[in-house]
Amino acid sequence: MIDMWGEEKIRAFRATLLDWYDEAGRADLPWRENQDPYRVWVSEIMLQQTQVQTVIPYFNRFMTMFPTLNDLAAAPEQDLLKAWEGLGYYSRVRNMQKAAIQVRDDYNGVWPDTMTELENLTGIGPYTAAAIASISFKEPVPAIDGNAFRVFARLFKIDADIAQPKTRKVFFDLGLQLIDPERPGDFNQAIMDLGSSYMSAKNYDSEHSPVKQFNAAYADGTEDFYPVKSKAPKPRPITYFAVAVHSPAGYLWEQRPTTGLLANFWTMPLYALTDFVTDPDAEWSEDEMIAATEKRLLADYGVVAELTKMAGRPVTHVYTHQKWTVTVLTAEVEAMPLQRGTWRDFDALTRDPQPKIQEKVWKRLN
Ligand code: ADE
Repeated sequence: MIDMWGEEKIRAFRATLLDWYDEAGRADLPWRENQDPYRVWVSEIMLQQTQVQTVIPYFNRFMTMFPTLNDLAAAPEQDLLKAWEGLGYYSRVRNMQKAAIQVRDDYNGVWPDTMTELENLTGIGPYTAAAIASISFKEPVPAIDGNAFRVFARLFKIDADIAQPKTRKVFFDLGLQLIDPERPGDFNQAIMDLGSSYMSAKNYDSEHSPVKQFNAAYADGTEDFYPVKSKAPKPRPITYFAVAVHSPAGYLWEQRPTTGLLANFWTMPLYALTDFVTDPDAEWSEDEMIAATEKRLLADYGVVAELTKMAGRPVTHVYTHQKWTVTVLTAEVEAMPLQRGTWRDFDALTRDPQPKIQEKVWKRLN
């Protein structure tokens, strides 16, 4: 299925790629300062769903807050969420703490140094395990992320569907043959850099790419067709109401339950339309929905409020499987005793860990 290169071409590819990396690679990235596995691990987890430019300040702050694996293992959950605030996919940081505890307690604080062992740690999949093993411990294993899928798929015109789990092995086996045994970490990072520059998804520039002569898709102008990826189902749309109730004692504010969506974060009251409407075909008018929300505020918090819908478009946020459309409702009330939640003034509540959607609601309110 793959038209494999000969030994000589493979060697030429490694040399070309690494020469380019030495000359043009982003050596200034903070996690490339050294090959400490703790730093490499933190950066790779952050970079999984977040752009390099966004990650840099988060990474530096994280290293200040939790300079060592032991600091991370011992940190209160609220500090973890605060450090991760805005990055999303919070299970990442919760799993990181579990893995830190595993390394501390099960491995005497010494990182395992092979891809296979690293994969036993919570939250470390084949990509992250290969990244750490190759960068920190020089194990010649390819780190197959979205960049590697795209770069390899174009170089070899690979038709396997990368949405299928079994396809990973096709790319991994290819990577095993290509990777430079002397500099596996640099090889992997050079592929990442290539995949986010000359061989990016949309604004690629194959013509000026250092590996232009190895790019089979470029040779016949078919870059747009690679990698082949079948479409995932669209995120399910969900309507929410965020209720900004303000009193002289501050905003109505609450820590969410320890399980479920956005567990342990602080938010204003959030209601999904499906909390009120069990019949999905029911057509509720806006006034009816506002009245239902007022009733729930009273039942849940003991708050009597007359809600007003904020002008303008609702706030939206896309999660992996859900797309939230959030209508903001506001009310100004007396400071009354609460049966749930707390009153918190704005300055104080900014110190609580909050999910992205809550930040977007504040932005809309201000
Ligand atoms: N994306 C994922 N890992 C990366 C790394 N180590 N450097 C740059 N971009 C990346």
